Amino acid sequence: MTFTEELNRRRTFGIISHPDAGKTTLTEKLLLFGGAINEAGAVKNNKIKKGATSDFMEIERQRGISVATSVLAFEYKGVKINILDTPGHKDFAEDTFRTLTAVDSVIVVIDVAKGVEEQTEKLVKVCRMRKIPIIVFINKLDREGKDAFDLLDEVEQKLGLTVTPLSFPIGMGYDFKGIYNIWEKKLNLFDGDVKQTISEGVEFTDINNPELDKIVGEKHANNLREELELAMEVYPKFDKETYLKGDLQPVFFGSALNNFGVKELLDCFIEIAPTPQAKMADNRLIASNEDKMTGFVFKIHANMDPKHRDRLAFVKIVSGIFKRNTNYLHVRLNKKMKFSSPNAFFAEKKEIVNESYPGDIVGLHDTGNFKIGDTLTEGEIINFKGIPSFSPEHFRYINNADPMKSKQLAKGIDQLMDEGVAQLFILNLNGRKVIGTVGALQFEVIQYRLEHEYGAKCSYENLNMHKVCWVEPEDAKNNEFKDFSRVKQRYLAKDKDGQLVFLADSDFTIQMTQSKYPSVKLHFTSEFS
Ligand code: G4P
Repeated sequence: MTFTEELNRRRTFGIISHPDAGKTTLTEKLLLFGGAINEAGAVKNNKIKKGATSDFMEIERQRGISVATSVLAFEYKGVKINILDTPGHKDFAEDTFRTLTAVDSVIVVIDVAKGVEEQTEKLVKVCRMRKIPIIVFINKLDREGKDAFDLLDEVEQKLGLTVTPLSFPIGMGYDFKGIYNIWEKKLNLFDGDVKQTISEGVEFTDINNPELDKIVGEKHANNLREELELAMEVYPKFDKETYLKGDLQPVFFGSALNNFGVKELLDCFIEIAPTPQAKMADNRLIASNEDKMTGFVFKIHANMDPKHRDRLAFVKIVSGIFKRNTNYLHVRLNKKMKFSSPNAFFAEKKEIVNESYPGDIVGLHDTGNFKIGDTLTEGEIINFKGIPSFSPEHFRYINNADPMKSKQLAKGIDQLMDEGVAQLFILNLNGRKVIGTVGALQFEVIQYRLEHEYGAKCSYENLNMHKVCWVEPEDAKNNEFKDFSRVKQRYLAKDKDGQLVFLADSDFTIQMTQSKYPSVKLHFTSEFS
């Protein structure tokens, strides 16, 4: 196959949802279609169960599973599909945000009864900011839920999307008869008794055909006709270009658990979803069909075995062909590196590969050279953009609880920060270290991992802060900035890259500071230039 053919047959995407909407179940069903797994239940659930906070064995188990499910690849109708796993748990939201920098599109799963939930709102906001093409899958149609129009409305209102249904449900819950596949003009009937089977769907181009009444009953047939007519009036017609631009979102209905509506989703997905996209670097846009290899690290996973402290860096290939045993430039370190055993990911396993193409993810063994956001090239000096740090929401001082192990502690903290488990800030005034996290769970994970992987002990002290803002002075020499630096001295710190940050205890403080020092800009993400 030529490079262009390999490129064009790849689709790299993420499935996002609020926990419990059915992301794991849908992933599993997609893999079943690809023949990548043989039975349901093969993809392990990597959500943090309630009450797991203090159960460290559970955290370790979850970490193990999350390595296995980080990337799930399979082939379907000649298309190579890479699914990037995104944790649904809110304490791992930052991990999900970073993974979203490596996808070319997403599928959003929504529970028909619960509608749009909080975590979905946050994640979709990020996708919209980046103009990532989105397909919506409304799941659990075998249960009683909200009315289809109400749901579509809710999706538009809460997620700020412009939807166009490509399938429409006939009945719901006990009375669920199936869906009309608007995309393929097919009728798919649901049979609650034959769960897990693949329904092919029958061609049904004209829903005014009286046959429909015989198949689903007069009431449902009439309802469907009315609803489809209304849907056609209210919603814009599907247009692939508009979808690819991130301005129109097709919606499918189904039941992942019953494998209903999943094949329709997948068949449409491989036709419309984007091939590997260009990506912006600091000085130019890198097109996926350029022949020189470029890629970036979006995730780092520590080895589960504390005796071998090597890690796996996940690199998304942006352009060219990544080859085994070939020298590449690690731009940040200005260092040539080659990799003798790059891993490619398949359904549930990883294997050493010789070549990977744009859209693919390779796992590189790393002994501490990589940080999230690092760029690899064939020599060009570029840095991919778009992996900013977001402000953490929880802050604590971190102290050394075993003075004999200060070196181990420093190394452990350093490496865990490179992995992106949390963010470290060092106060300008006294050099004290502050850890900032998205969720409270991370503090326990850090403490546990420092002890078990680095032999170091830490203790925490509460710090009542609300947010960090990255500081950008209009002019570092002007009096206003000098004033700001003097007055706010106690609240200024440096992040891991040495950027200046301001620790604010409330939104009010941020507002006051901004109005008092208008020439000192405060940003909520680390990437603002
Ligand atoms: P998540 O990854 O988004 O967190 O969700 P997951 O797939 O684990 O699904 C959450 C629960 O919803 C699971 O039940 C799953 O079986 C169920 N589910 C998924 N799709 C459907 C569907 O189409 N219809 C119905 N009725 N249920 C669905 P659970 O009891 O929490 O877990 P399990 O014991 O079944 O694994």
